[in-house]
Amino acid sequence: MKELYDIKISDISETLLLTLYSHAIESKSKEPIIHDPEAVRIVEQLNKELLISKNRLHRNLANGKTKKSLAVHISIRAKKYDEYVKEFLRKAPNGIVVNIGCGLDTRFYRIDNKKVNFYDLDFPEVIEIKKKFISENDRYHFISSSVLDYDWILNLKKHEGPFIFLAEGVFMYLNKDEVKSLVLKLQSQLPGCELVCEVVNDIWLSKPLKGLVNFKMQKELKLGQGVTYNFGMRDSNEMEKWNSGIKLIDDWSYFDASEKKLGFMKIFKYFQLLRKTQWTVHYKLN
Ligand SMILES: C[S@@+](CC[C@H](N)C(=O)[O-])C[C@H]1O[C@@H](n2cnc3c(N)ncnc32)[C@H](O)[C@@H]1O
Repeated sequence: MKELYDIKISDISETLLLTLYSHAIESKSKEPIIHDPEAVRIVEQLNKELLISKNRLHRNLANGKTKKSLAVHISIRAKKYDEYVKEFLRKAPNGIVVNIGCGLDTRFYRIDNKKVNFYDLDFPEVIEIKKKFISENDRYHFISSSVLDYDWILNLKKHEGPFIFLAEGVFMYLNKDEVKSLVLKLQSQLPGCELVCEVVNDIWLSKPLKGLVNFKMQKELKLGQGVTYNFGMRDSNEMEKWNSGIKLIDDWSYFDASEKKLGFMKIFKYFQLLRKTQWTVHYKLN
């Protein structure tokens, strides 16, 4: 458990700081991958709190000590998820977008077409922190809940849809039964919805490699001990096996992006194992 504004958050929730700061850092860089003025604004306010924190990660972030490559990767991902949403809204301008495990992400402002209904979902304590910086409006709503407490899905049924669910940097922290149960619930309650979610390769869950991941998260990134990967897949179509009607639409990897800040890593897209170290799958849940 960590504290932010005297609010206790889990080690996993604390990862939201890395994504928020990455968006802000990239936004202020030369030739930014992402333009996220809301993230910049929130970071300026948060810095005052983090600078005086006892937590090393917090102070590092506030002092601008972050891994450049992390900011690049996270921003490439956020830009791609924005594109998924924009593409969805081109076909369905009044569609419903649900950002599962939203953290302090400000996607609503990056994609708002003035018609979308947008839901940001995260644990109550995370939403409490988010409310210090951002307000809801008639088309932008917060859901204070674990994604696994399914009442929130029933509340969405008042909308006609269509629905798109995003889980960016979230499912790897749940376990397989939880992810499967959630996907099947979305399919049964809101058939025809789309799901865009990031997954890690299950190779990283095996013993020696999991130790390496934990080392990277805890020692290199200074995250807490509760941050570890629990769910992974080997192939993009794996969720299709969970129930008939689940159809893979496409997949995407960081290295597919034609982004020069990736440097030599651009060649990773030619090697399936590297391309699918941590990647995104896009399904239709019929
Ligand atoms: C790495 S952060 C990603 C935040 C955001 N998606 C982004 O890209 O900026 C992971 C987020 O998932 C949230 N999360 C993890 N498990 C969750 C659960 N069971 N229910 C709701 N949110 C969850 C955490 O609280 C945290 O905000």
